[in-house]
Amino acid sequence: MAKNTLSFVCQNCGAAYNRWQGKCESCGEWNTLAEEDTTASVPVSIRSKRKGRTFALESLSGKTQDAPRLSSGMTELDRVTGGGFVRGSVLLVGGDPGIGKSTLLTQATSLMARAGHRIVYISGEEAIAQVRLRAERLGLSDAPVQLAAETSVEDIVSTLSEGAVPRLIVIDSIQTMWTDTVESAPGTVTQVRASAQALIRFAKKTGAAIILVGHVTKDGQIAGPRVVEHMVDAVMSFEGEGSQQFRILRAVKNRFGPTDEIGVFEMTGLGLREVTNPSELFLSERDLGTPGTAVFAGIEGTRPVLVELQALVAPTSLGTPRRAVVGWDQSRLSMVLAVLEAHCGVKLSGHDVYLNVAGGLRIHEPAADMAAAAALVSSLVNAQLPTDAVYFGEISLSGVIRPVAQTPARLKEAAKLGFKRAVLPESARGGDAGGDAGLSLNAINSLTTLVAEI
Ligand code: TYD
Ligand code: MG
Repeated sequence: MAKNTLSFVCQNCGAAYNRWQGKCESCGEWNTLAEEDTTASVPVSIRSKRKGRTFALESLSGKTQDAPRLSSGMTELDRVTGGGFVRGSVLLVGGDPGIGKSTLLTQATSLMARAGHRIVYISGEEAIAQVRLRAERLGLSDAPVQLAAETSVEDIVSTLSEGAVPRLIVIDSIQTMWTDTVESAPGTVTQVRASAQALIRFAKKTGAAIILVGHVTKDGQIAGPRVVEHMVDAVMSFEGEGSQQFRILRAVKNRFGPTDEIGVFEMTGLGLREVTNPSELFLSERDLGTPGTAVFAGIEGTRPVLVELQALVAPTSLGTPRRAVVGWDQSRLSMVLAVLEAHCGVKLSGHDVYLNVAGGLRIHEPAADMAAAAALVSSLVNAQLPTDAVYFGEISLSGVIRPVAQTPARLKEAAKLGFKRAVLPESARGGDAGGDAGLSLNAINSLTTLVAEI
């Protein structure tokens, strides 16, 4: 008897149901269920009769292939991948449409192809002529990248199985790929998942590294198939404010490297330029001499990054004052405001509060607490902070300033960029963390002290 194999698949998380319903019980999203045929084209009777093939079991100490990583030729990209693309691994690069994913990968693939590797770029979105135009604009049309505009996974796998195994294959984008083995339309979760599976299998079998490009939906998920994120070895997200030229590549998941490193790029008329000293860039448009700004000496991955926090505290006309934050954690802001009210007598309940991290960077470190508090108080009392000072330190609920990691690296970076003093946690002053960077250190142990000094 033919089995009814139509099912309703959530386009957000991939959960399948046999009835349509308004809300996906698995991820809680509304209106994400779409009807899909989830059967494989191989009939069930054939599949179940096929006898399993035997395979050889290997020992742990066997021979490994040499040079397991392939450098992209771009330091910022290598930093995020953890030193280059790993042989046989699959990496998903997500980002908003138009952010510069194709540009980044065109640049990286060209550099690798010029270094003598076999590199294949499959575009499912653009015609060959468009890809060539981009390469021309980037001054890279002479790079021996092998190009195709294809969307059938079977065709791609057959073509790439011939000749030398490519070192790297870019699939731009996974949402445009489709495979014969499932009936659903391209772009649906089932298709994307099956296509990704086939490509991952190819990567593992041949040792080629594959980069899948994925579009991001408005809420920041890599469109539809969150499932793909679980299948691949690494997920990177390419971010940036539309109006600004900075682009940040961030590792969200990485089986072969760190997940807290960022790569910083600047989009120019001639493609992406690597920014080796992000602090200089983030501080380049500083508005010196305005109250409400403080420079935070932060750490992103292994690298110190100086960035300006901007606060605006203004009397409110609303019953519930507004609290808006860009680039930092909303609950962290609430906590800092609560500690300022409770322990330092800073009354903010009648004020709207806005906090912004300049340059489109997103800060995840609690060490930014002190810089945020300094910026907020500075805006409230309309007093400018010293322009040659950096701030860092975590604030506890009791108003104590707690020490943070990597103090020497933060101080060194500040000194390098011409800062003269640092306001930091008291306990960080001891040992060799101190003045060898040449800064005058103002070590404080409670938030009350910071507020009194502003
Ligand atoms: P693209 O790489 O096509 O974005 P994605 O693949 O993420 O959709 O980049 C598109 C944008 O980048 C487009 O607005 C034009 C801009 N751009 C530049 O500013 N300079 C350049 O050299 C290139 C190639 C693109
Ligand atoms: Mg693109």
